[in-house]
Amino acid sequence: MKKNAPLFKHPQTMVIFGGTGDLTHRKLMPALYQLEMNGYLPENFSVLSIGRRDKTEEEYREDLLASAKKFSTRNFDEESFRRFSTKVHYFKLQFETKEDYQKLKETLEASTTEENLPSYLFYLAVAPDYFKEIVHHLKESGIREIPSSAQRLIIEKPFGQDLSSATKLNTAISEVFSEKDIYRIDHYVAKEMIQNIHMLRFQNAIFESIWHKEHISNVQITVLEKEGVGTRGGYYEQTGALRDMVQNHLLQLLAITAMEPPKSLDADDVRNEKVKVFEHLRAFDKKHLEDHLILGQYEGYLQEEKVSKDSTTETLVATKIYIDNERWQGVPFYLLTGKSLKNKTAQITIEFKKSRFHDHPEDVGPNILEIKIQPDEGITLHLNVKKPGVMDQMAKVEMDYCQSCLYLFNSPDSYEKLILDAMLGDSTLFTRWDELALTWSYVDGIFSALKENPSRPLMPYTPGSHGPTPLETFIDEGSQKWWYEDRSYE
Ligand code: BG6
Repeated sequence: MKKNAPLFKHPQTMVIFGGTGDLTHRKLMPALYQLEMNGYLPENFSVLSIGRRDKTEEEYREDLLASAKKFSTRNFDEESFRRFSTKVHYFKLQFETKEDYQKLKETLEASTTEENLPSYLFYLAVAPDYFKEIVHHLKESGIREIPSSAQRLIIEKPFGQDLSSATKLNTAISEVFSEKDIYRIDHYVAKEMIQNIHMLRFQNAIFESIWHKEHISNVQITVLEKEGVGTRGGYYEQTGALRDMVQNHLLQLLAITAMEPPKSLDADDVRNEKVKVFEHLRAFDKKHLEDHLILGQYEGYLQEEKVSKDSTTETLVATKIYIDNERWQGVPFYLLTGKSLKNKTAQITIEFKKSRFHDHPEDVGPNILEIKIQPDEGITLHLNVKKPGVMDQMAKVEMDYCQSCLYLFNSPDSYEKLILDAMLGDSTLFTRWDELALTWSYVDGIFSALKENPSRPLMPYTPGSHGPTPLETFIDEGSQKWWYEDRSYE
């Protein structure tokens, strides 16, 4: 996509439900402001930010200024912010009040011209309990009938609690929006290095030719966080790490790493290949509880705000997954995610099988390819070479592509990419319903196995540590160790 290219044929109107909420202030508005700063927003772009409180436009824009300064990842630019803020309007509405939607309809219609119909993007940045209600009112009020060039819906996670609730929610939403106009966000998929995996795999013959069970011993996907649940205890009690992170972010990373080359880069071709990966996940069975799953809870979680004193919610998950297809048969994918750990870091590590010529007296390590997602972005390949000198000694070296060092600007935030793509009608990075259904079905399998074995212990771990001790022996393939971050390569 070229900067400043005329990307849009139609005026764009974004309607954010949850305009005074945390997500809007932390992510959406800073992302929009950064898009404006970089020249990606069209002239005739406007945001109607919906909140339930009384607020004047001026007060709302003041709040935005504070968020842009606090949460933007670039240096603050007064002029860009001024331009951006004039495009933002505040609209008071109670989610359950029919009449308020009529007023919203009139407001939207008032800015519609016959000649160039706008494209509407409805963003549900609200608690999931309101999803159905808002979507229902969009239909009932006639807003869906307003002449437009497109009407799309962006919906945040959590999309359901399990397959059954997700299906019900999807049925309700699908009565109002067709699948092609529903954009389900998974912000991990839009992270720079995740988008880069496609290029790395399919535009480098050296990797594509070894990207399978003959050469790869195991794959490790680690998404670790330093922070605990903070003020989100109430939400987290309903989800836990399995629903909050594994069902969506980690399984998406697994699919992108494991998928076959798509026919094209079109949204449906790419998502069809991800779906095939999910279809081939080996179902979680209760006999896997022994050696395919560790659940942990950090010490102090029970004292967090809005957390029940006897909560059994997991704040850490390690799981081993097999993909039963031609490419990956027998290769374990280890997934690890947790809160209150030593560092915030995310990466995908590919451990290759050891060379067949390992008759060297020293311990020749396997080749490792690290795809670093955050905080550093880049790719590191670990190789074995000869140490210069008369003795036949070995050295382990790294070939490092540090994207975040090379490009001296911050990568765009995922939300910049996702909002722009949704306005352009490109759903490649958004989760299609069949992907969602299959990932829920996989995670439901883990919950059913756990239900049959309620005595299974939740492993405690010290905040700021690497997690519970049994993690150390969880990897039973290849080098038998976790490779991420500061888990030394020696
Ligand atoms: C969200 C989860 O989807 O992702 C949070 O709900 C988690 O619990 C967050 O903290 C992590 O995202 P990031 O981009 O900060 O790694």
